[in-house]
Amino acid sequence: GFQILIGRELFSVCVQILNGNPASASCPLQMSPSRVVVKFGDALSAKCTSLSNQTEGMGWESPYGGRDNTKGVTFLDFKIDSVPVWELGPMCYVNLHDGDQCTEILPVTIYKMPDSVSLRQNSTTVKEGEKFAIQCDIVNVAPARNLSVLWHKGNKILNSETFIESSPSPVSKSSVLTLTAHRDDDGAEIWCEAKLNLWPGEQGPAMMRSMSHRVTVLYPPTYTKAGNETLEMTVGENMTLNCNAKGNPPPLYHWEFPKFTKEWHDKEEVIEPILTLPFELPGVYTCTAYSNQGNVIKYFNISEAPSKFSLVTS
Ligand SMILES: *[C@@H]1O[C@H](CO)[C@@H](O)[C@H](O)[C@H]1NC(C)=O
Ligand SMILES: *[C@@H]1O[C@H](CO)[C@@H](O)[C@H](O)[C@H]1NC(C)=O
Ligand SMILES: *[C@@H]1O[C@H](CO)[C@@H](O)[C@H](O)[C@H]1NC(C)=O
Ligand SMILES: *[C@@H]1O[C@H](CO)[C@@H](O)[C@H](O)[C@H]1NC(C)=O
Ligand SMILES: *[C@@H]1O[C@H](CO)[C@@H](O)[C@H](O)[C@H]1NC(C)=O
Ligand SMILES: *[C@@H]1O[C@H](CO)[C@@H](O)[C@H](O)[C@H]1NC(C)=O
Repeated sequence: GFQILIGRELFSVCVQILNGNPASASCPLQMSPSRVVVKFGDALSAKCTSLSNQTEGMGWESPYGGRDNTKGVTFLDFKIDSVPVWELGPMCYVNLHDGDQCTEILPVTIYKMPDSVSLRQNSTTVKEGEKFAIQCDIVNVAPARNLSVLWHKGNKILNSETFIESSPSPVSKSSVLTLTAHRDDDGAEIWCEAKLNLWPGEQGPAMMRSMSHRVTVLYPPTYTKAGNETLEMTVGENMTLNCNAKGNPPPLYHWEFPKFTKEWHDKEEVIEPILTLPFELPGVYTCTAYSNQGNVIKYFNISEAPSKFSLVTS
């Protein structure tokens, strides 16, 4: 049996070399479907049809689901209940009355979804301007040559990666995303997605995504309304001093009032970032927004409005 098999294989190689494409007009044979994508362990079936009226017999050569040379048929099924291997190239052959043989290999892609897709970050909090890396681990996926990893931030795609991999059996792959921390990324959700691109066109890829990872970026206080302010006060009316600042961690506030104020004393701590008070004294009011990431100072120069009385008399 072994020697006959070798003989037939050598012969089919010769036929392929002579004909170029074994499924050419001189070797009229049709596979249905023309290629198979099947999950490891699932059932596989295909059909080989001979288009020649000179067909003497047909068979399928494969370590699994093989069919002996069957005389008097023009089509023959190939079936496996549960695909047990990661690489399979079943070959259909047709023997003609004149002794010619045509063969065609059914292309089979056997895949497996990852066991898991997960993220790791080398440090959980980063300072603005620093580089940080997030790693996406894809465990036991096949075939990795059809794997692509997509990096998402919110609804934006940041990056994608594919892999050069010859092994048809499951392997684990990692993709590393390196970013420079920016304050806009504080609180951003980052996640990765593993896609198996196995079906051209309509059907789309099989995918699996990681949990989202929340990025924490530390940055110094920054005023929402920047710049010193010069304001005019009217005795008895309230004024608002806005010292509100953003930062991570959220800033604390320190206010200093004019030395000669009656009610407030130098370096008195008032924690509100926005003061709405009836101001009675002109001068420079100073606010400091501070955190362990730095501090910023804002000056409010408050002068007295020209009195209505002086307006009337001038
Ligand atoms: C077989 O097919 C060939 C070409 O397709 C045709 O010329 C011939 O008549 C056919 N023979 C029979 C017995 O149908
Ligand atoms: C994290 O990764 C970045 C980029 O690779 C590197 O610059 C940084 O030193 C790493 N930090 C730690 C804590 O390993
Ligand atoms: C799967 O990978 C193979 C080898 O890289 C490639 O030829 C084929 O086109 C891929 N399939 C799809 C649908 O991208
Ligand atoms: C605010 O005033 C201080 C002191 O006069 C000055 O040093 C600083 O540059 C000013 N800041 C802005 C944003 O104008
Ligand atoms: C001024 O602000 C104080 C404290 O917020 C408030 O109680 C008072 O009603 C305000 N007065 C006016 C005239 O808005
Ligand atoms: C405050 O503003 C007044 C009027 O614009 C100006 O004359 C004065 O020099 C300012 N004072 C400071 C300390 O900036």
